[in-house]
Amino acid sequence: MKRILLIVGGGIAAYKACELIRELRRAGHDVRCVLTEGGAHFVTAMTLAALSENKVHTTLWDLKDEAEMGHIRLSREADLLVVVPGTADLIARMAGGLANDLATTLLLATDKPVLVAPAMNVRMWRHPATQRNVAQLRSDGIQVMEPDEGAMACGEFGPGRLPEVPAIVAAIERKLGTGDRRLHGRHILVTAGPTHEPIDPVRYIANRSSGKQGFAIAAALARRGARVTLVAGPVDLPTPAGVARHDVETAQQMSEAVAAALPADAAVMVAAVADWRAADVAAQKLKKGDDAPAPLRLARNVDILATLAQDVRRPRLLIGFAAETEQVLDHAQAKRRRKGADWIVANDVSGDVMGGDANTVHLVTDDGVESWERLPKRLVAERLADRIADAL
Ligand code: CTP
Repeated sequence: MKRILLIVGGGIAAYKACELIRELRRAGHDVRCVLTEGGAHFVTAMTLAALSENKVHTTLWDLKDEAEMGHIRLSREADLLVVVPGTADLIARMAGGLANDLATTLLLATDKPVLVAPAMNVRMWRHPATQRNVAQLRSDGIQVMEPDEGAMACGEFGPGRLPEVPAIVAAIERKLGTGDRRLHGRHILVTAGPTHEPIDPVRYIANRSSGKQGFAIAAALARRGARVTLVAGPVDLPTPAGVARHDVETAQQMSEAVAAALPADAAVMVAAVADWRAADVAAQKLKKGDDAPAPLRLARNVDILATLAQDVRRPRLLIGFAAETEQVLDHAQAKRRRKGADWIVANDVSGDVMGGDANTVHLVTDDGVESWERLPKRLVAERLADRIADAL
């Protein structure tokens, strides 16, 4: 059990702090709440006290409170301080080192790690003052999560939504070093992103894969303690914490990197590998000339997943993805058998999945099909990682 001091700021997302308390309690943690004056306009001290089963602290100027437990002790006795929602004002006061209420006094007096989950209007989030304050907090060693993007209570759209409660819980567990470590000691291979198949030195064949889903899966597996090798096609994404990344361009290179990473306990092949490459790659840039160019001759690429399924070093759990635009389940079942995978995660890419942040998937296994609701890619990754941990 860890002790978490939860500071509830004054924003509409304060109600999500209530859900967070329940999740943290369910995970076995002790939660003490500090409610700011602004926060009290959105949730009551009574609600927080009932959910946390602890006294809620609201003011610096309470002689009785100070006698029972001084504010310095309150901040020192916690294992972690969490600010939810981190409003623009609270973040600004933290960045400025102000101590003009109980919350900011505790944040200034603490010697414990601090995590902020911001939530505010998109313009407030993007304002240079807020961005400056966030950068200041981060350089002070405070972890400020990225807000989610989407429709906001104020009717606008963009980054500024409070991160989902499970993501906040995961960030807290990571910070505390607790949580699910079931994949400790396992090596898991993940492929992600598109491949680029050159035509000449400046042109290539590619697809719309962003790599987001594969990177999220690599991150979720690493968080559960796995040693993760991520073989990534050309994408513009940061390497998730604790993941060993190998960048490649072509299907051939991806195939070699996968073989080099074996043995592995499981492999999750998320990459949208090009099925075809140019049969003859021109050594020099093709010039336009006056006539239409000769038709591009294509050659088949290796199927990395199917090859791995036949390998003597085949991972115990082999998972493929199937990007389909029609007859999703039929095609996925057939693909699972044809490629020799244990599971296929079938996603319907007829909408805005490629490059987007959400995904609607079906998990196709020996036991049948499980259809998941439309989820952020991050949560698809969490759920899949849980299933992998169950299976290994
Ligand atoms: N895959 C692979 N190597 C390839 C092609 C695909 O490892 N050369 C893997 C992908 O990483 C994914 C799965 O196979 O896990 C399915 O890929 P997909 O492109 O959806 O299916 P295809 O085999 O290309 O079938 P089709 O084009 O008929 O949909």
